Order: sequence, then structure tokens, then C-alpha cells
Amino acid sequence: MVKVAVVEGDGIGHEVVPVACDILTAVRPDIELFEVEVGYGRWERTGSACGEETMADLRSADAILFGAVTTPPDPGYRSVLLQIRHALDLYANVRPIQGEGVDVIIVRENTEGLYSGIEWTEPDRACTVRVVSRRGSERIARYACTLAKPRRHLTVGNKANVLKSDCLFVEICTAEALRAGVPCRVNYIDALCLDLLMHPDRYDVVVTTNMFGDILSDAAAYLVGGLGMLPSANIGERHALFEPVHGSAPDIAGKNVANPIAAIRSAAMLLCHFGDPVSGAAVEEAVLRVLGAGIRTRDLGGAAGTREFGAAVLREVGRAGRA
Ligand code: NAD
Ligand code: IPM
Ligand code: MN
Repeated sequence: MVKVAVVEGDGIGHEVVPVACDILTAVRPDIELFEVEVGYGRWERTGSACGEETMADLRSADAILFGAVTTPPDPGYRSVLLQIRHALDLYANVRPIQGEGVDVIIVRENTEGLYSGIEWTEPDRACTVRVVSRRGSERIARYACTLAKPRRHLTVGNKANVLKSDCLFVEICTAEALRAGVPCRVNYIDALCLDLLMHPDRYDVVVTTNMFGDILSDAAAYLVGGLGMLPSANIGERHALFEPVHGSAPDIAGKNVANPIAAIRSAAMLLCHFGDPVSGAAVEEAVLRVLGAGIRTRDLGGAAGTREFGAAVLREVGRAGRA
């Protein structure tokens, strides 16, 4: 039996994750869900955002379904999501951008780059070390090539004109693509950001370093209706975590207006990861039928609440199950 740890986190995580869980349970009642408390809310209450015992709970799960956590820009606070990604070595952050006329997958290196965690503050400056290792680059390049092989091609997003660390990243990614027989292009990340928005058809799988992938994926959300639409998978050799690309959205939290599609799609990615693409597709199709019926949350120009949208998807999933 698949055991899934469920982390609502903070903010709208408390609203979108329960919707995704209801749908997951409807399509796969055999999956065991157990709740784990992680995040800024827990830190405020207890002084610990995660803790060793909690990390052990996360490790014990076959997968994690994660909402979003608040990370204040406080030098004394380290993002609990980054701690989890590092501790579980979730090196591949897969962010599909799919919608009308758009089918792109951003593959973001998830453990190093500017998120190496090697940083310090001096009286008059603060430094962060951007680490690009051969091992880290080879494994993300291989992951991206495996995704690109049955598709069209690979683009390596980089800034090698300025950053020596990206010269190594590009060298390794192009070598892996050649080895894998995947057609490969190399684009500077700044120009790529605009070109992806203007000509998404020119892109297929895009591999890039940690922070570039973070920024590129939020920008790419523009192509498919915004942050409420984008799911993601964080994959390692032994663990996997599925989460919306968006954050805890404190500006709309607690109002029942958040779009739960990103969380629902993250649950669909979880199903596909566990070898059940039929259930994954059933969830995705149910979302599309609800959108097709004109039911939308506020960010998409509609009036449906988070819960109402979720209930509509649940009905569609049930209808498909009975058909
Ligand atoms: P955000 O993604 O939370 O929100 C950006 C904007 O998009 C906001 O206006 C928000 O209302 C809107 N938005 C996001 N998700 C939405 C949804 N599902 N439906 C409708 N609108 C949605 O980014 P932010 O405001 O920069 O960050 C808020 C907090 O979340 C910060 O503490 C940040 O560190 C954290 N964060 C966490 C994660 C994560 O846990 N994976 C990701 C990004 C940001
Ligand atoms: C994301 C988020 C995280 C990141 C933050 C909250 C640590 O923005 O998952 O895109 O930068 O990776
Ligand atoms: Mn982000």
C-alpha cells in the first residue's frame, strides 16, 4: 500500500491540500494518507518548523503531498522546504507548463546552485556561494534527457557568459544530451525568459540551475493562467515530494478564493509517479471538464470558491468512475 505524508504547511496550503486529498482518496481509496505538521505556523507556535521526528515521518512515507510554507526573509530562518529537499536529496524539480498550445517541462536542479546553503553575513556584506558540481549537473542532465528523449529536444538555460559555474553546467548538459541522442540547444536565461513567453512552441524540455528554474517557472505560469495552475514534482532516488509551484499566498489565505488546480495536479503527478497514469489522467481530465463547463476560481476570472471548485472536480471524477 502506498503511504503518503500530507503537509498542508501555511496559508492557502490549508485550503488547497484538503481539496487535493479528497480527490486523491476518491480515485485511489487504497492510498493511506497521514498528516504531518511543518511550516512557519508550527515554528511560531513551537520554535521548530520541522524537527528530526517529523523528518523521520517524511522519510517513512512513499511520497509527500505538500502545500506551501511561508518563509520570512529573516537571516535567522532557513526555509523548511529547502531543508526537506536537501535532507531527502530531491534533486530533480520537474515543473510541467501545460495548457492550450503550451507543452513545456522545466527541469530545475534542486539541491545546489545559489541554494547551496553555503552563505554568511559579514558586517558590510553578505555572501552566498553558487555551487555547480559535476555530480549534481550530471544527474539533473540525465534526468532531463530521459524526459526529453521521447519528446522533441532539450534547452539548457544558463548564464555562462558571466558565471564560470554555468560553463561547467552547460558542458555537462550538452555532453549528456549528445550521449543520450537528444537534440540540444543552449540559451542564456534572460533572453530565454522572454522567448519562452513569446514563443512557447520553441521549447520542450528546459533544464537549468536552481534559482533560474525557480524564476523561470513562475514567469512561465503566465502562459497557462497563472500560479494557481502549476504543479511540480521533487524527485530523488529514494523519495518524492509533490507540490504546487506557488507559495502560501498570505494575501488571499483563509478566504476560500485560492485556485486548487496546482495542488490537484500535483496529486495527479504523484499518481503517475506511482505507476498509475490512468488515475492521474482521470484527475487531469476532470479538472479540464470543470474548466470547460465555465467553473473557475477568481484568479481565472470566475466566482467559484476553492471548496466549490474542488467539489466540482470530485463530481467529475465520480462520474467518470461510474461511466
Ligand atoms: P505566492 O506564490 O504565495 O503568491 C504570489 C501571488 O500569486 C499572490 O498574489 C498570490 O495571491 C497569487 N497566488 C498564488 N497561488 C495562488 C493560487 N493557488 N490561487 C490564486 N492565486 C494564487 O508567492 P509570494 O507571495 O512571493 O510568497 C508568499 C510566501 O510563500 C513567502 O513566504 C514565500 O517564501 C513562500 N513560498 C513558498 C513556496 C512553497 O512552499 N513551495 C513557494 C513560493 C513561495
Ligand atoms: C519554490 C519556492 C521555494 C524555492 C522557496 C519557498 C524556498 O519559491 O518552490 O518555487 O525558491 O524553491
Ligand atoms: Mn518559487
